[in-house]
Amino acid sequence: MISFDSDSRLFVLDNGSIGYAVYVNDAGYLETLYFGKRMERYDDFTCMRDTGVFASRRYLVPSGEDVAYGDGFKAECAPLELSPHGLSDKRGAPLVVRDGTGSYVTDFRYHSYTVEEGAPALEGLPHAHGDNAETLDILLKDRTREIWAHLVLTIFSDKDAIVKSFSVENGTDGTLRLTRAMSLQLDLPRADYDLVHFKGRWAKERDYCENAVLDGVQEVSSNLGRSSAEENPFVFLKEHTATAASGEVIGFNLIYSGNFKFRTFVGPFRGLHVTYGINDEDFEWTLEPGDDFQTPQAVVVYSAEGVDGMSQTFHRFVRENVMTYRANDVYKPVLFNSWEGCTFHFDTDLILSYLDAACKIGAELFVLDDGWFGARDSDLAGLGDWKVNAKKIDLRRVIDACHERGVKFGIWFEPEMINPDSDLFRAHPEYVLGWGEDELSLMRHQCHLDFANPAVPACIYAQMNEFLEEYPVDYIKWDYNRTVSEHVSRALPDRQGEVYHRLVLGYYSLIGRIAREHPEIMIEGCASGGGRFDLGTLFYCPQIWCSDESDPAQRIDIQFNTSLGYPLSCIGSHVNDSRVAPYDTKAALALFGTYGYEMDPGTLTEEEVSMLVRHAEIYKKYHGDVIERGTLYHLLAPHAGNEMCMQCVSQDMSASLVLFMNKLKEQDEFRFVRLRGLREDASYFNTLDGCVHTGEYYMRVGLNLSRECFPEFSHRLILLTEEKPQA
Ligand code: GLA
Repeated sequence: MISFDSDSRLFVLDNGSIGYAVYVNDAGYLETLYFGKRMERYDDFTCMRDTGVFASRRYLVPSGEDVAYGDGFKAECAPLELSPHGLSDKRGAPLVVRDGTGSYVTDFRYHSYTVEEGAPALEGLPHAHGDNAETLDILLKDRTREIWAHLVLTIFSDKDAIVKSFSVENGTDGTLRLTRAMSLQLDLPRADYDLVHFKGRWAKERDYCENAVLDGVQEVSSNLGRSSAEENPFVFLKEHTATAASGEVIGFNLIYSGNFKFRTFVGPFRGLHVTYGINDEDFEWTLEPGDDFQTPQAVVVYSAEGVDGMSQTFHRFVRENVMTYRANDVYKPVLFNSWEGCTFHFDTDLILSYLDAACKIGAELFVLDDGWFGARDSDLAGLGDWKVNAKKIDLRRVIDACHERGVKFGIWFEPEMINPDSDLFRAHPEYVLGWGEDELSLMRHQCHLDFANPAVPACIYAQMNEFLEEYPVDYIKWDYNRTVSEHVSRALPDRQGEVYHRLVLGYYSLIGRIAREHPEIMIEGCASGGGRFDLGTLFYCPQIWCSDESDPAQRIDIQFNTSLGYPLSCIGSHVNDSRVAPYDTKAALALFGTYGYEMDPGTLTEEEVSMLVRHAEIYKKYHGDVIERGTLYHLLAPHAGNEMCMQCVSQDMSASLVLFMNKLKEQDEFRFVRLRGLREDASYFNTLDGCVHTGEYYMRVGLNLSRECFPEFSHRLILLTEEKPQA
């Protein structure tokens, strides 16, 4: 898949489907000659470089001569893998180093390369994995100093995805400061793309935003200390004419959970310059002699088959090359969570009554959410004290009751947080982030623990471990209910530029350790709903609570948009008791996610119980093959109109689930929804009209929803099953 031709100095990464070509120019810069659908030949590269724009630079060298590089390098605008900083290229370098003289000039040039099988494992950072990969590691050296950079590119044989990262090593005998350390530069010769990103807020995560790539600089970023609800690290570029099913689309994501910055720059020469990685706001990392710094990995997905081509690649990539949870492929139980039913207000009897009622609606995993520990009777106190509040709950009895019924048991933690009203705070006020500040911003009455100080995650680990040793737990909901402010750590007196990143490393070290030592426990990520929905978290957690908003009115958009970049199997979705839509609409939507419940189950009518049982049965029968491992098609986008339609097809194309929903009321009108991904000549029975049609019919004519009037927020959940001819 990876080759290097030393005569033409051309690296080619080609997996038979996509191609990536990098030329080592006379000056030693890496020019990105091509990224896209694979080509038969890449040796026309001289033509690709002959852009005619701008004269080549000349350089004054120590001999006093004024020289130029022979191969016509266009220093200001050539598409590069790693732009220098402080030279005539002003597009924005991904790496910037300040040395002891105070100079920021950073100028890495080619040195050598290696190619290895597989994908590299990063220590302390979540990373892509898989044997079906090959990795090119290009070593570069700063032009004048012993500073080394590795550009690492991994290509996968079975997916149109490339993973990129940098590392920087200090080979000098002085201290260096890394003031920018991004994961990727991608320069494209065209800039006529739309940029799609997902902004939001609490309970309104991942709103679809699309605009033409702007001239000048545009950035999608988080400086909130977490990947955030405000912007998600998943973004994509699409040709103006691209649709769900056709056209060029390039998707990006970062295997990281902290501050990020996706930046585009279109300069006077019109090429598109993308850099992506850790946000450089307040970032400064000290490299003592011999130290190195590894950036998180960025994932780039190429699709010549529209937005769904990209999103299907991301789905498989996340499930097969990012997630590590051992049971990624085994059945995930129907979950009941206590939070929305009773919040902090419960006792053992109430929880046992919930358990009984939850079993009646098909729950197989019972989760006791917030409120079971310390003095946690409201959100004013208790975070940091991970000891069971025995006066409130007989946890042993609850767990035994679950296990006696064959139901798994799960529990809630928020390990990175602390309430000022807690024993931990009283004993260790210095564990709080914001050292030296005389005023700390509270969010939900809580402070952020200083996870940049290794003693702090170690203390939380000890508490969690003691709990997990004592109680047999099958699942943890790992919450994170505030953003980072006062980013000052007492552990890093002269290195406060490292705090944001070290908080994330502290999170990974703790969750990584818990996951490693308790591989049987499934951890679900959460952050005030979906405020840390990212590939870093998915490395440890096979699912993430998508949003605290479960009402279909907003949830249609949240879930649809999230599924553009993330597989449905990881999108934590529950049926709750919000009153805007009926239970069957909410249940149908939750089926296009992990499926679970979150309500006072004692309030359900008999009719509602049997309806939820029916949906749980659909989940049990079809989730694995159709939703989790199947292929997802986005047929009607809710941001583009009044209707939403998603369709999943099993890999063997024998079954498909279609979810159609509308927002505002609709009258009877022509409404044919064309399906995708079926076998043309196969016959499928469908539960909408009870008829059998061919795959060709469903894909050309469509599902006929015309006859119906749809009240607000109604839906149709349609199952198609192949009818095999009698032998
Ligand atoms: C966050 C989560 C909720 C719930 C509460 C508990 O808001 O998103 O699901 O766990 O915390 O305090």
